[in-house]
Amino acid sequence: MIGVLVSGEGTNLQALLDAGLPVVAVASNKRDAPALERASCAAAAFELADFPDRAARDAAMAGWLGEQGVRLVVLAGYMHLLTPAFLDCFPRAVVNVHPSLLPEFPGAHAVEEQLAAGIAESGATVHLVDEGIDSGPVLAQERVPVLPSDTPETLHARIKSVEHRLLPEVVRELCAR
Ligand code: GRF
Repeated sequence: MIGVLVSGEGTNLQALLDAGLPVVAVASNKRDAPALERASCAAAAFELADFPDRAARDAAMAGWLGEQGVRLVVLAGYMHLLTPAFLDCFPRAVVNVHPSLLPEFPGAHAVEEQLAAGIAESGATVHLVDEGIDSGPVLAQERVPVLPSDTPETLHARIKSVEHRLLPEVVRELCAR
């Protein structure tokens, strides 16, 4: 059973739902994240401001996911780092999708930074999550070209169309283990 963490639009969450994967819970660090509206399963927001600190928020979020029966957590555009209070509850069972060929261009501004660097090839990465910024072991990667005419929007859209196929494929494999 899968839990998905989101902060934004939720197109990767939608890809998981469209693939028929067993998503039972969706959580966000932002109450107004549009992604929350895509979920027809249990959905909840865990805003940092509602907790004494990040560890307390992460422990509450992990506890809630556990109550929903979640065994595998997918970060689909979740924009906060996770602390051990969360990660220790789901050992080697938290995956993230990122719009670059990691370990190149980790972080929240990967698309803009790749354009600024003038690279010819970008891509999508699905990886296991540790405490670092986009730093866990890579599970799958696929390349996309960067075109001279690209804007952040056009490049991100090209990467996302790969993410929407690659992420459900990897998650399906992990569920089958
Ligand atoms: C994706 O590009 C993902 O790689 C990154 O954040 C974006 C999320 O997009 N971590 P969406 O919310 O799934 O549309």
